[in-house]
Amino acid sequence: MSNIETIQYDAIIVGGGGSGLRAALELSKTGYRVAVVSKVFPTRSHTVAAQGGINAALGNVHHDDDWRWHMYDTIVGSDFLGDQDAVEFMCQSAPQAVIELEHMGLPFSRDPKGKIYQRAFGGQTRNYGGELASRTCCAADRTGHAMLHTLYQQNVASNTTFLNEWFAIDFILSDDRHVCGISAIEIETGKLYSIISKAVVLATGGAGKIFASSTNAASCTGDGVAMVARAGFGLQDMEMWQFHPTGLYGVGLLISEGTRGEGGYLINSKGERFMQTYAPLQADLSCRDVVARSSMLEIKAGRGCGPLKDHVMLKLNHLPAETFEKKLPGITELAITYLNIDPRKDPLPVVPTCHYMMGGIPTNRHTEVIDATRGQDRVVKGLYAIGECACVSVHGANRLGANSLLDLIVFGKACGLRVSEYLKIQSAPHANTSNQIHSIRRYNRCQNSSKGISVAEVRSKLQSIMQEDFGVFRDHKSMASGLKSLQTLKQDAEHMHLEDKSEVFNTARLELLECENMIEVAIATAISAFDRKESRGAHSRIDYPERNDEKWHKHIIVNNHSAISYRNVNMKPLHEKPILLKSRDH
Ligand code: FUM
Repeated sequence: MSNIETIQYDAIIVGGGGSGLRAALELSKTGYRVAVVSKVFPTRSHTVAAQGGINAALGNVHHDDDWRWHMYDTIVGSDFLGDQDAVEFMCQSAPQAVIELEHMGLPFSRDPKGKIYQRAFGGQTRNYGGELASRTCCAADRTGHAMLHTLYQQNVASNTTFLNEWFAIDFILSDDRHVCGISAIEIETGKLYSIISKAVVLATGGAGKIFASSTNAASCTGDGVAMVARAGFGLQDMEMWQFHPTGLYGVGLLISEGTRGEGGYLINSKGERFMQTYAPLQADLSCRDVVARSSMLEIKAGRGCGPLKDHVMLKLNHLPAETFEKKLPGITELAITYLNIDPRKDPLPVVPTCHYMMGGIPTNRHTEVIDATRGQDRVVKGLYAIGECACVSVHGANRLGANSLLDLIVFGKACGLRVSEYLKIQSAPHANTSNQIHSIRRYNRCQNSSKGISVAEVRSKLQSIMQEDFGVFRDHKSMASGLKSLQTLKQDAEHMHLEDKSEVFNTARLELLECENMIEVAIATAISAFDRKESRGAHSRIDYPERNDEKWHKHIIVNNHSAISYRNVNMKPLHEKPILLKSRDH
C-alpha cells in the first residue's frame, strides 16, 4: 500500500444508521461540507431491524402521561446507573422529536382518532410506578425500518454527501491528541484514504455480534468503540449488555417486545405464566433484565421447553387476527419464514438473546466524547459519539425497550447542533500523519500474512467465550476463565491469516478488521464485568447477588485492556427525591 489519498470535509459522521442520519440532517442545513461515511448502504444499517417503537409521553392513550414519568421509568429501569441530566434531556425532548419525525413523513400507525398509535412496552408506568403506561409510538412492528428510510430520504433532499461502503479504520490525531480525521478503506476499490476533518462523529452502532446468540446484524462489530479503545480514550460501563427476552430460538432474530405490549405472554413447559410469579405488578412487561433472568431461571429449574428444555414459549395465538395484520405483521412473517411456525396458531420458542450494548464511548449530554481515564473528565476535542456506540449514559445498567430509537433521534439532533457550533470556532486541524502509520500497519499486516489462524475460527471462539462466561448470569470463576481465554485469543488473533488479498470488494479483509474490533470490545467487557462486584441491571452476579450502592454506584472506565477508573453518576435532578432510591424488581 503506497499512495494514500487525502480528502477533506468540515465534519464527518461515521455510520449511516438512525443517529448518524439525524445528525447529518441537522448539519446539512448549515452549509458546512459534511459527509456520512458508512460501511453499508445507509438503509441497510442495523436501525432498520428495530421493531417495537419509540417512546414519547404524548399521552394519546393515558392523558395524564408526562415526560417526567418517562424520566422516572428510565432512571429506575437503568437501575440508577443512568446519568440523570441526560435522561431528563432525552425524555423532555421526546414528544417534539417524535412529532418532527411525523412531519418528515414517518408513517406511524394510527389510533381510531387518527393520532399516533401508542402501545405498552416494558417498564412503563405513571404515578411513581403505581399505574401502567402506553408510551411507545410505532409503525406496526417495523418502526426502525420506517425511521431509517424517512431519515435517508430527508438527507437526500438536503444534499448530504454519502461515502457509502467505506470502512473506518482508526483516528488521525493531532500532536495534542485532538481528533482531526480518520483513515478509511473505500471498499469498492480497496484504496486507503485519509479523511481530514475538524469534527468526527462516531455513530457506528453496537457490537452484539461478540455473543454467539444475538439479535444484531453481522455488521454490529463495535468498530467505533474499538477505535476509541485503541486511541486510549477509555470506554464506560462495558459490562452492561442487554439480553432481549424474546430472541427467536435457534435463529436469534428479534421478536418484538411489542408482542407482549399487545397482550402476548411467556409460558414455561407446564404452560404457566411464570412472569406473574416473578414480578406480579408488571409481569411480562417488566424491565428486560428482569424478564430475561426469569426466563433463564425457569430453564435452569428444568421448566424449559423442547427436547433440550432450553427455551420458553411466547404465546400470542389468543390475540385477534387484526393485531397480527395491523400491529405485528413483521414478526408473523419472520416466524413463518425462519421456523415455519405461525404465531396466529402456535406459541413461538424464544430465549434471552444478546440485543444491546448499554456501555460504550463516554460522552457528556452534548455528545462530546469524554476521556475519563485519568480520573477527571476531559473533553476530547473534535470527537463526538451518538447512538448505541455512545454511553451518554441514558440507559445505565438496563435500557427500556423503545428508548433506543429515541436516543438516536434526540442525541443525533443535539450532536448536529453542537458540531455546527464547534465548526464556527474551530480552525483547520493540524493532523499528525504519523498517526496513520498504525492504520497502514493494520492494513498491511493482513495484506502480507502467509499463514495463521482463520478469522472464522477466532470469531467463533470469541462468541462462545462471551456467551458462556459473560451471559445473563455471571460469577468470578467463569469470568476469570473467560478473561484468560480472551487474552490468549487476542494473542492468537495477531496471527490471523487473510487468504484473499484482492482489492475490489474484499469483504474477507473487512471481516478481519472487524474481528480485531470485536476482540477490543470483548476484552473491555470482560474486564469491567470482572471488576463490578455487585448485581445491577443487566449485570447479574451469582456471587454478588445484591445491588451495592455504597461501593458500586459509579461508572466503570476501562482503558488499554487493564487500567480501571471510575466516574460519578449524575444524580440531578432527582437525587433529592428519596423515592428514587427505592429498590426495583430483581
Ligand atoms: O422489542 C423490540 O421491539 C425492541 C425494541 C428496542 O430494543 O428498543
